[in-house]
Formats: sequence, C-alpha cells, structure tokens
Amino acid sequence: MLMILSVYSLTKVEVMQNDSYNRSGFIAFLFSMVFSLTFFVYVTVFHKGIDLKEVPEAAAGADVTIATETAKKVDVSKNDTPWVESADMAAHGASIYANNCAVCHGPKGAGDGPAGTALNPPPRNLIEGKWKKGGDSEGLFVVLQKGIPGSSMASFAHLPVIDRWALVQYIHSITQNRVKDDPAKLEAFAKTAK
Ligand code: HEC
Repeated sequence: MLMILSVYSLTKVEVMQNDSYNRSGFIAFLFSMVFSLTFFVYVTVFHKGIDLKEVPEAAAGADVTIATETAKKVDVSKNDTPWVESADMAAHGASIYANNCAVCHGPKGAGDGPAGTALNPPPRNLIEGKWKKGGDSEGLFVVLQKGIPGSSMASFAHLPVIDRWALVQYIHSITQNRVKDDPAKLEAFAKTAK
C-alpha cells in the first residue's frame, strides 16, 4: 500500500510540484502513527511478556540452611558433660558450624568455603583431618579457644563453652581422621576448660 502510494507520487512529481500538500507523505505518516499506537497498546496491554525460561539458581547455602533447621531442634542446654560423645551434641554443633565455620571450611567441611579460597595457609579440610594441634577433643577445643596464630583461624572463645564442645563433636562426626581420646584426661581438661 505504502509502496504503491510512493511509486504513484513519484510518477506524479510534476503534478505534485505545485501542490504544497504531500499526500503520500501524509498517508505514510498516518500509517506509522497508527502502527506504533497499535503496537504500543499490544505490548503494554495484551502481550504477556517474554518468558526467558530462567531457572533460579539453588541458593548456595542450601545444605547449610537445612543443617541449621534440623540442628536447631536439639536442646543441649541441660547436658553437663558436653565433651562426652553424643549425637545431639554433634547435631547442635552442625548448626554452630553452618553459621560460623562453613564460610571458610566449606558447607561439608572439605576446606572449600567461599571465604577460604585465597587464604594462606588454606582452611583445613576437616574431613581429611591433617591436624596440626593433635586433633583429639582437647586439641580441637584449644584451637577453638585460641585460634591458630599466623593464620586466619581465629579464636572462637566468644562462643559458649557448650557450643565449642558441640563443634568438636561435629568435627569428629565428619572427619576420616578421628583421633581417639583418653576419657579420664579429657574429663580433667574439660572441667577446667573455659
Ligand atoms: C576466616 C576463615 C576461617 C573460619 C571462619 C574458620 N576457620 Fe578454622 N581454619 C582456618 C584456617 C586458614 C585454618 C588452617 C590454619 C593452619 O593451617 O595453620 C583453620 C584450621 C582449623 C582447624 C585445624 C586444627 C588443627 O589442629 O589442625 C580446625 C579444627 C578448624 N579450623 C575449625 C574451625 C571451626 C570449628 C570454625 C568455626 C567455629 C572455624 N574453623 C572457622 C580458617 C577459618
């Protein structure tokens, strides 16, 4: 339609020369206005939007959240021998771990947390368990108490004693290098540990 009109107008150039009113130009203008208006109404009112089929990425800390939720149900506040191995303590430790340690040591303890990648020395792979400070309950507790000087492993002495024992038990529950405790020696240490 537009093409025919423009071709027609070209052939009529001489006639049109005297005519200050450009008919085909006006029609083309009108057509484009109607088109853009229709298009605008279509896009804003009728079109449902484009579905890019995006799949939301699973939250990075999904495992950690689950661990926290299950572990929160465990009440260890009445445990007066928190250094003695128990499933409740390990479960409680999992939630403390998720909130304080996973960022460096990784959600499952493999030393692959997002904040640990650039550290030197790197965060310990707790599953592998190449311990520098003994790796028995006392050794792990002391690490949490004092940190490891010269590394990013800080002291966690601000956590309640029972939470630190829970962490020790959680580490023992996930590691492949479980160092045996001497129960009597451990109890003697635990009675004084702060
Ligand atoms: C800022 C990062 C960071 C955070 C957070 C962190 N650690 Fe560490 N951790 C390290 C690094 C780095 C090392 C290795 C230090 C070294 O090799 O000298 C380490 C080492 C350890 C070790 C090894 C001890 C040994 O005898 O070899 C244990 C156990 C440990 N961390 C437990 C924890 C626990 C439990 C938490 C949470 C309460 C925690 N860490 C939080 C960085 C971190």
